[in-house]
Amino acid sequence: MRRAVRLPLQALEPYLLEVKDRVPGPLDWPAVFGNDRPVEIEVGFGKGMFLLAAAQERPATNFLGIEIERTFQLYVANRVAKRSLANVRLACADARLFFRDYVADGSVEAIHVFFPDPWWKTRHRKRRLFTPEFAAACTRALRAGGKLHVVSDVADYFADIEQLIAAQPALRPAPLATQEEPRHDMDYLTNFERKYRKEGRPICRGAWVRE
Ligand SMILES: C[S@@+](CC[C@H](N)C(=O)[O-])C[C@H]1O[C@@H](n2cnc3c(N)ncnc32)[C@H](O)[C@@H]1O
Repeated sequence: MRRAVRLPLQALEPYLLEVKDRVPGPLDWPAVFGNDRPVEIEVGFGKGMFLLAAAQERPATNFLGIEIERTFQLYVANRVAKRSLANVRLACADARLFFRDYVADGSVEAIHVFFPDPWWKTRHRKRRLFTPEFAAACTRALRAGGKLHVVSDVADYFADIEQLIAAQPALRPAPLATQEEPRHDMDYLTNFERKYRKEGRPICRGAWVRE
């Protein structure tokens, strides 16, 4: 990870959504963000390329990132704090549990999942993010008209995800946003997209809308 000036933890705190010791129960988004603007969630934000770009481009939308690795949560919080992005909150949690325990039904405008870990070994498959329960949780969390957006470089896993989503009758396929050809290094969706597109790997993309 590139070395950057690290702000003190106190400066990151306004951007951290701590749920470790929180009793399960739906979060109140206006209380979390201090306003009632629409909320989008990115699951597994890694180094935060999408979150930072989207939050800066769309200040009237609130963005919650959920990341299982604390190192990434703090790394991205540092970047968010340096830019004073008031519309971003970052949680460190297993998103499967976070959705189950803290996301209110019909409260989310969009869910973005970019390059979820494929967990290749059969004995590790249970760690995959997408399960029937997670697909159901996404469906439940989205408001009517809300979108689920998934991108992966692993065709087999993407096909499994498509099947899990197809089992959710309230989600129907939606058109994908047009993909511009990147002109420079920051024109990619995420770090993993940049890496894999530069390697020439095919990328699978899907979008679904909640009826
Ligand atoms: C392959 S990386 C992709 C990172 C980023 N989305 C990108 O495209 O550059 C997958 C990310 O998902 C995170 N992750 C894996 N399982 C997760 C889970 N259950 N809940 C939240 N984050 C998870 C990993 O820590 C990692 O940062």
